[in-house]
Amino acid sequence: MKRVLNIETTNKVNEEVLLKGWVSSIREHGNIIFIDLRDFSGLSQIVFTKKMGESYEIVKNEIKTEYILEVLGEVKERPENMINPELATGKVEIKAKEVKILSRAKTMPFPIDTDGYEINEKYRLEYRYIDLRRDRLKNNLKKRSDTINLMREILRKKDFVEIETPILSKSTVEGAREFLVPSRNFKGSFYGLAQSPQQYKQLLISSGFERYFQIARCLRDEDPRGDRQAEFTQLDIEMAFPEGKEEIMNLMEEIYIDVTQKIFPEKHIQQIPFPRMTYKEAMEKYGSDKPDMRKDKTDKNELAFYFITDFPMFEWKEEYKRWGACHHPFTLPQETDIEKIKKDPASILAHQFDLVLNGFEIAGGSLRAHDIDILKTSFAVMGHEEKDVRVQFKHYFDAFEYGIPPHGGIASGLDRFFAVALEEESIREVIAFPKTGDNKDLMMGSPSPVSKKQLKELGIKIEDE
Ligand code: AMO
Repeated sequence: MKRVLNIETTNKVNEEVLLKGWVSSIREHGNIIFIDLRDFSGLSQIVFTKKMGESYEIVKNEIKTEYILEVLGEVKERPENMINPELATGKVEIKAKEVKILSRAKTMPFPIDTDGYEINEKYRLEYRYIDLRRDRLKNNLKKRSDTINLMREILRKKDFVEIETPILSKSTVEGAREFLVPSRNFKGSFYGLAQSPQQYKQLLISSGFERYFQIARCLRDEDPRGDRQAEFTQLDIEMAFPEGKEEIMNLMEEIYIDVTQKIFPEKHIQQIPFPRMTYKEAMEKYGSDKPDMRKDKTDKNELAFYFITDFPMFEWKEEYKRWGACHHPFTLPQETDIEKIKKDPASILAHQFDLVLNGFEIAGGSLRAHDIDILKTSFAVMGHEEKDVRVQFKHYFDAFEYGIPPHGGIASGLDRFFAVALEEESIREVIAFPKTGDNKDLMMGSPSPVSKKQLKELGIKIEDE
């Protein structure tokens, strides 16, 4: 007999069904036992009576919460006074005939029928696969999946091609600190894990993929916090010949309006089209480049999207005592006079824009410098000698010399968007297997020491501190 989902029982009254799922709760009333059986579609109330004989005894003596069962039974309408309006299947119940235990379960390390905020996060992360049984996290991950599917649909309709780019990439001078992966075949050499597909997507543009996107995993060796993880996901977009940065911003705007209306219909977007504000204005008025522009901050359903534009091209990096890129070195400065860029980097603005939502930066993009001399100038301002840059970014400069159209793009931090849309304080609540603040995976127990043999193979010696 074929399995039926809990939700499907509502239109199978008086039919025999085979259900499979987890025991959510057990209630005993005299000679009747009620079990709420949970599957990914919802709950069903199953009724076991003493008349069942052996099956009843199994339920009474053996079955505990979170056991996984197979139940054969008949769908019955509930008497009027037993209807549960809170449950999608609340008008029916299943009169059990046979039951089979498919998997037994130890007592759970913590409750899973609450929202879970009351539990120490350490335990939740250590037993994340159990934590994920709770409705709240299931809902978060389902919404995440629905949203990503919709984003794909929107972009594919507009002729964007989804292309995967390498994670094992190359260590370069600019950007956040990267994770290094030792090479077994080339001892002493390392891959850098991709911080974003930035260079690859620009090279794809040079190859003639005029519209690219990817749901991209990015890796940065930074300390995680509420809105930051070392491993996170971007909706990454790049296009050739954009009609200025407006075309890129409008596309992102269209995506987020559609996502809000279809996946989060209870939410209200404060203003459409999304307002634009320059970086200067944001800093002067709000002292932040990602101000929370909600008029009513007590309303959890208000989404205030804002574009912040015209960022400075360079920012002074005190740590290194040199200029760095505000966004990244591939951004197009608003000044085309090379001498002016070199003379007064602080005054140069960039064709860069961020999308801010309720005080969180949820996307960043720019037009790119496709003129090789401008590109070289940006690197020079940042103190990188041309010969070094030429070595590190050989592929990139070479590609530009073989011809690349004007282009631009944007990447949206999906984890941050979901945290806001799902009213979560931390992006860990919208990621299936997140890491802790000090970058540990408490469930897998990583990072972890490796054997001497593995290290030897990689040509690595660990120094004592
Ligand atoms: P950027 O570094 O600004 O740009 O990243 C784009 C967006 O990604 C999100 N984000 C993060 N989310 C979670 N954890 C992190 N550690 C983290 N870091 C960034 C933010 C941010 O706005 N390649 C460029 C984009 C481009 O120019 O096309 C890039 O990666 O929401």
